[in-house]
Amino acid sequence: LRAWIVAAASTAVTAALITPTVPADAAPTASPGVVGAQTAGDSLFPHQGNGGYDVSHYDLDIAWTTPNVITATATITATTTQQPLEQFSLDLEGLSVDAVTVDGAASAHARVDSGDTFKLVVTPASPVSGEFTTTVTYSGTPVSHTDPDGSDEGWVATAAQEGAVALNEPVGAMTWFPNNNTPQDKATFTTRLTVPYAAGLGALNRVAVSNGVLVGSPTVSGSTRTYTWNQPNPQASYLAMVGIGRYTASESDVALTSGTTHEWSFADPSATGSGRFATARGRLSSILKGIEKHYGPYPGSSTGLVLDVSSLGYALETQDRPYFENSIDGATLIHELAHQWFGDAVSPADWSDVWLNEGPATFIETQVGADLGGGTSTHDTYYGDWKSSSASFWATPAAGFTDASDLFGSQVYARGAIALEALRTALGNAVFTDVMRTWLETYGGGSATTAQFIDVAEQVSGYDLAAFFQTWIYGTTKPTAWPTAYQPG
Ligand code: ARG
Ligand code: ZN
Repeated sequence: LRAWIVAAASTAVTAALITPTVPADAAPTASPGVVGAQTAGDSLFPHQGNGGYDVSHYDLDIAWTTPNVITATATITATTTQQPLEQFSLDLEGLSVDAVTVDGAASAHARVDSGDTFKLVVTPASPVSGEFTTTVTYSGTPVSHTDPDGSDEGWVATAAQEGAVALNEPVGAMTWFPNNNTPQDKATFTTRLTVPYAAGLGALNRVAVSNGVLVGSPTVSGSTRTYTWNQPNPQASYLAMVGIGRYTASESDVALTSGTTHEWSFADPSATGSGRFATARGRLSSILKGIEKHYGPYPGSSTGLVLDVSSLGYALETQDRPYFENSIDGATLIHELAHQWFGDAVSPADWSDVWLNEGPATFIETQVGADLGGGTSTHDTYYGDWKSSSASFWATPAAGFTDASDLFGSQVYARGAIALEALRTALGNAVFTDVMRTWLETYGGGSATTAQFIDVAEQVSGYDLAAFFQTWIYGTTKPTAWPTAYQPG
């Protein structure tokens, strides 16, 4: 769903970086059409994402059994952006594809699965124009995917085949469903998860969680149980999640300033120790209200926490229902909830814009932490960090860096937060807050670039901020002075 960012997309997605691969078994088409590019043009992940269409909805039907095998059908509703589209691709790594249909007709398909390019290339029986529906029937044991920084993501089996989690930032979604793996193409999701079930097992049965709202009650059929989750808001593929485990499930209504949202939370019982999980759940209302006070209404469809036992080494802001491993500390809880506004509602258009996620989430972790718990103020924290920082800290720009292994580096988190505090000092708190709220109002539900953030900041404040952002975001040397408040005129 990205009609509203047409301007951004048309500049970001220009030339194909890869020569499209025509599968050897592609059926000849009646009339020549457009071959969709096998890239969305991302600067750090040039083999990810695809051209020629825009997805509006993923309907995922996934049955999981031990030992970590899935049997699945993905039904993908999309609209052509180039037509007639005679061939297009989806990102998919591993698994075996059994059948592909387009608008109900069997379609030729081929795989590219080598090096860093993982595609399912589809040639419909006849070219498509406008809205079209692709179904992909697939199965196998999903692989996990190692990031350029050495961390793991994708579909990851948890200990002793008790279950699995799927966590996708930045590109792991392709390990468990065929998709347009670019944060520029957001879509709604229905995720139907079927897991083994035995009446005699009671609470030891596996539970399956995803983003959004649980539709009805899980349904039991023979020796399986099916959970249907619906994400009604546009969601980037990297924010889709699955958790399968012998979880304890809890739910409640969580009071917000803007109303009420429903909580569905899940935890591996071995990680909930001494009420820790209950404490985190109990803080949802005050933290969400604390973020709303600065940045406006909670953008999610629902809320909740997923706490599993794993050794991935990170928490993740999976949409509506962030994921934590082993324990939940207070700062990380605020951080992942802040991402629901910054990252999930507004997503980065390019992975080198990821400071637009991590800068605000880090800043808010401090800001709301101080509001609620009397921690150190954002000024003392980030002015202090700037003062004490070394020259080497500034060598990597916060936006537009070119090494994918820097994706989760300190330049996006700490430098991003320092830049926001410097901006708050320059503009004053009221104008700064207005900038952030205007950003969310303008781009909520979509994706945007650092240049678009700068435009919003300039339009809201009335100042030319080119030099400011050059110094604090793009520059590669330590800024020599902390800004003073800008004077109008
Ligand atoms: N966005 C996550 C956070 O800051 C971190 C994700 C790290 N992912 C990874 N593959 N290393 O909350
Ligand atoms: Zn983060």
